[in-house]
Amino acid sequence: MTQALAARMRIDDPDWHLTDEVEDVYAELRRDSPMFWYEPAQCWLVMKYADIKHASANPGIYSSAGGIHIRANLQPERDAVQLAGAQSIIRVDPPRHHELRRLVSRAFTPRLVRTFEDSISRIADEALDDVDPGEVNDFVDKVAVPIPMYVIADLLGVPREDRHLFKVWSDAMVRLADVRDADELAEIGRSTEQMVSYFRDMLAQRRVEPRNDLVTGLAEAEVSGLTLSEDDIVMLARTILVAGNETTRNLISGGVVALAQHPDERRRLIDHPDLMANAVEELLRWTTPVRVMGRTVTEATELGGQQLKAGEYVILVYPSANRDEDVWERPTTLDVGRTFDSMHLAFGYGQHACLGASLARMEARILFTKLLDRFPDFEIPAPPERLSSVLINGVVSLPFRARP
Ligand code: HEM
Repeated sequence: MTQALAARMRIDDPDWHLTDEVEDVYAELRRDSPMFWYEPAQCWLVMKYADIKHASANPGIYSSAGGIHIRANLQPERDAVQLAGAQSIIRVDPPRHHELRRLVSRAFTPRLVRTFEDSISRIADEALDDVDPGEVNDFVDKVAVPIPMYVIADLLGVPREDRHLFKVWSDAMVRLADVRDADELAEIGRSTEQMVSYFRDMLAQRRVEPRNDLVTGLAEAEVSGLTLSEDDIVMLARTILVAGNETTRNLISGGVVALAQHPDERRRLIDHPDLMANAVEELLRWTTPVRVMGRTVTEATELGGQQLKAGEYVILVYPSANRDEDVWERPTTLDVGRTFDSMHLAFGYGQHACLGASLARMEARILFTKLLDRFPDFEIPAPPERLSSVLINGVVSLPFRARP
């Protein structure tokens, strides 16, 4: 590990992720220093697929309770905007996590997700109808933002007229990962309070008048006599809003950028629509919308040949796992027909693996199918503006022309 390479690593700097250097630095670390102590943020960076999988599969040793963001030192301030009495499922360890997850899985079933297929299709059609074929459109604004936002609103049971509130709340929550000062944190706190009180009112209504939505399902979920409290449900609704929105948005916009940059793969997908399910997995691997998740080591252990001490913080670097040469053939080639003997880690792995994976996959499959059907010759006439964030691999705006 040369000093020069260490100096090039700035994983906790949001702007560093916009540079061309990232993939090279990750590749060199995988080769020379797959467990890398990153002094500025006082954490281990876990670069290899197998090691990330191992840590994710052992939540007793790799705890989520101490925080999941890269700068763990800011965690106390971030926790101040959390909800008293409940913790997001993503930050809960077993055995409580196991209980929560079983209860949520009672409500958030594949069957419930399937009932939203028509509604997703309609939402995607409406978004694509909004694209002006003769003009340069902002694809993020017109398509990638509204689809996941409205899908989650529908899933939770939020009426159309309140949907604009979702964007404000979701954006505030995502900024929490990159928050820079106390004023910004206070503003995010206010937005959170508004959201929490909205969901409390909604839950009270659903208890009186059940519907086919997730809030009703969570209110009714029961496993071995256990149920979810009001705080649990409000927190879950909030987590789902945050976790399902920005992530799916950037799979969609990042996927469009990838297909624009790889015209042969786009053509292959148009000619072989049966490859779509595969293509969605490849686009997940390629874009890896969530960059990092953190864990706190609870006891002395070994990972990737490195001794770790209790209390140390590790960061799982998903984009590195998704380019790991030991797992992927031609890892830096986009291949929509790739077969997945090993699953990518874009949705994480193990007990905390993404709860909304099937919903996100369905949204992407429906949208990309319709997009290539309606606008097969789309082009990106100017470079996209990318999001400066340590957490999300995102696109802020994406010029899109339906036909050159
Ligand atoms: C492309 C879209 C998505 C990506 C890339 C993504 C990524 C992830 C990742 C990496 C984790 C693991 C966190 C960890 O191990 O600490 C996770 C967890 C989670 N995701 Fe997603 N997600 C996506 C979409 C969604 C959607 C649509 C929903 C809900 C509607 C959702 C809800 C959740 C929840 C609730 C968890 C926490 C699960 C737990 O802690 O047990 N996600 N997601």
